[in-house]
Amino acid sequence: MRSIKPIGRFEAEFSLPGDKSITHRAVMLNGGAEGEALIRNALTGEDCLSTCACMRALGASVEVDGTDIRVVGTPSFRQGARLNCGNSGTTIRLLTGFVAGKEIEATLYGDESLSSRPMNRVAKPLSLLGAEIQTTDGHAPVRVFPKKLHGAEVILPIASAQVKSAVLLAGVSAEGKTSVVEPILSRDHTERMLVSMGAKIAVDGNRVTVEKSKLRCVDVRVPADISSAAYFMALGALKGKTLCKGVGINPTRTGILTAFDRLGISYQLLNKRTEGGEETADILVEKSDMRAVELTQADVPSMIDELPLVALLCAFAEGESRITGAKELRVKESDRIRTTAELINNIGGDCTETEDGFIIRGKKNLAGGTVDSYLDHRIAMTAAIGLLASENGGSIARPECCAISFPDFFEKLGV
Ligand code: S3P
Repeated sequence: MRSIKPIGRFEAEFSLPGDKSITHRAVMLNGGAEGEALIRNALTGEDCLSTCACMRALGASVEVDGTDIRVVGTPSFRQGARLNCGNSGTTIRLLTGFVAGKEIEATLYGDESLSSRPMNRVAKPLSLLGAEIQTTDGHAPVRVFPKKLHGAEVILPIASAQVKSAVLLAGVSAEGKTSVVEPILSRDHTERMLVSMGAKIAVDGNRVTVEKSKLRCVDVRVPADISSAAYFMALGALKGKTLCKGVGINPTRTGILTAFDRLGISYQLLNKRTEGGEETADILVEKSDMRAVELTQADVPSMIDELPLVALLCAFAEGESRITGAKELRVKESDRIRTTAELINNIGGDCTETEDGFIIRGKKNLAGGTVDSYLDHRIAMTAAIGLLASENGGSIARPECCAISFPDFFEKLGV
């Protein structure tokens, strides 16, 4: 249990941990490529450490030193590896595709939360490439059997970067061409990294095509994670002014800024630059009066992990906000439609859960209260921001799960 006191006006500057999605991909892709690579400003939270451990189990050398990760790619992959993916959806889904392309047998498994999350969404499209994957009733543990893959055209019913990436990672080892088409563009870090590693890859709108390619290792400097910065940006909007430095602003990830625009939150992107194929900026956010918003399915993929926080901001905005088309939240580390609504209501807000989103009636002040994280890192961090901005503060049960994506979150917050 961690107690959080309300804060008054707040002004601060932050350097945030490295991007989780980019770190996973840098470790996995380099681990299977030719040569060696240094990944700097990597996120070394629990999820990314799961990816590091899995790549070691497959034969790569992965050394973590502070926020540096040194990877030596393995020329051959170990047969029969048992890959513990912990709590990490990105690890298990991307790795299923990666391993399927290596003609080895492997078993992928994880914790209770991960074992409840859907895996047919990767098993099914990978089977179109000739992969043989056995799930446990649609869930982990997942067994991958050695098969030679062939190219295929895969039309995805949902916008999911994890599923898209799993197919692309299998596709670079398959004979011929593999195309993936998604309904709305999801984060494209895999595509960008494959380009930098020499893959034959073409992007045309929401369609990506890869061909069998030899990948060479590349050094990566990981930008700060906008999904982690979002909590500090929200704090600026609610309580004063915050500057988050060197944050990744890849357009497939900046839905939070779209939400800020619509909520009427004032922010500036300073010192814009591009490093290693990814755009970054320092993001300055200032306290703003917020108005209700409407967000729909097309808005969701670029702010998927920030939606609990956006819903919290709506709870402080004037008027009634509606978020729809966000059913995917039900299959995250917790059922985030249920846990976010409970969070907001427990701290004195007014949020109604719908099948695919929320209706939130904003209030000027929320009293505070007690919130359970449900062992979901994003719920724990959203709760912390809500309580800091509340009248009386309160407490968070099971807050340690922040370590999944942001090990020193509470230290950075100074609470
Ligand atoms: C991620 C994709 C998203 C996101 C997750 C990270 C990735 O999941 O929610 O935190 O790194 O590819 P989905 O692909 O299920 O939308």
